Amino acid sequence: MSAPVVRPIVILISGSGSNMAALVEASRQAHWSRRFGAGVAAVISNRPDAAGLAWAREQGVPTAVVDHKQHADREAFDAALMEAIDVHRPALVLLAGFMRILTPGFVRHYEGRLINIHPSLLPAFAGLKTHQRAIEAGCRFAGATVHRVTSELDHGEYLDQAVVPVLPDDTPDTLAARVLTQEHLIYPRAVERLLAAG
Ligand code: GRF
Repeated sequence: MSAPVVRPIVILISGSGSNMAALVEASRQAHWSRRFGAGVAAVISNRPDAAGLAWAREQGVPTAVVDHKQHADREAFDAALMEAIDVHRPALVLLAGFMRILTPGFVRHYEGRLINIHPSLLPAFAGLKTHQRAIEAGCRFAGATVHRVTSELDHGEYLDQAVVPVLPDDTPDTLAARVLTQEHLIYPRAVERLLAAG
């Protein structure tokens, strides 16, 4: 019997959802429900075709879609998204490859509960195409950052970082794959630390 979940976690995805899968697996393997009263209550995607949705469903994790294309503007989309999230009364909302810029109202609503993973060593390379930009800049190292979300894009307190080498023949794809293996370690680790801290 698993312990009751008093600290629900909602994960937002847009694509393959490998970070989400790492979080779901960590929550089970590291007994987040017994140790922290925490568990993944739902996975929500802004894209109906996100591959991660199927994986979550197979795992018995409730899923929902709030399709940004069905909403007139960012405010309307964020309002619908908040409604879908708040049904679960989340203690934490984890952005895991969620590829939408959120409105300040959304960020304020989840202040202190909203976490993101970004595939660069912040503050370097906020924004998109991080791996290509790291290679083009001649970086010898790249990495990923788990951080709190504030209304400034890819800023907010850093909770964990991981470093990987950039190899001479790297392409954005090979570097992304190397970084991703580290993302799968640091995201669950950072969340577990937050849960342990209460
Ligand atoms: C990850 O590199 C994440 O940091 C970035 O997009 C990628 C998504 O991967 N924002 P996944 O959907 O978690 O597999």
